[in-house]
Amino acid sequence: MTKSTHPLFGTADASYQAAGELEGIHQLVADFYQIMDSWTGAAKIRAMHKADLSQSEDKLTCFLSGWLGGPRLYQERYGSISIPAFHAQWSIDAEARDAWLGCMQQAIDRQPYSADFKRYLLAQLSIPANRVVQASQARQQAAQ
Ligand code: HEM
Repeated sequence: MTKSTHPLFGTADASYQAAGELEGIHQLVADFYQIMDSWTGAAKIRAMHKADLSQSEDKLTCFLSGWLGGPRLYQERYGSISIPAFHAQWSIDAEARDAWLGCMQQAIDRQPYSADFKRYLLAQLSIPANRVVQASQARQQAAQ
């Protein structure tokens, strides 16, 4: 067994540091939306978003800052948010989740992160992504 030389991701601000702090997170999110805007596999979820992605870019950057253990910028600038409840206004199924995570995977691959952190980050993001699908599907069923 090799000994880990970095603090455990998910403790204190280790993940925020591994992501390159605010500048690194902003680059990740800019790449994420650029991929969503151009990759045909993301056309359906791109259509759910506004034409101008700049506000989404700022909001997701702020959200991920706090979510990764850094400054809680989303809360400071926009107030509190429940990610699953917020997304229940759209019909988001497993295919949409996979498209969203596919954009994230490609964006993560472009970053200068360690292989360990790349794997960790994608696995962690799949948790709220699955909750989004559950909340969206529950809302759709309740409306039927
Ligand atoms: C599962 C697939 C997902 C889809 C299809 C999706 C789709 C969307 C859409 C359509 C918007 C609104 C964009 C606009 O106003 O133009 C949005 C906003 C947002 N999403 Fe997602 N999303 C997903 C997962 C996630 C996850 C896992 C997170 C967090 C880790 C997240 C964080 C956010 C944030 C912070 C916003 C901005 C909220 C605001 O307007 O205040 N999303 N998303």
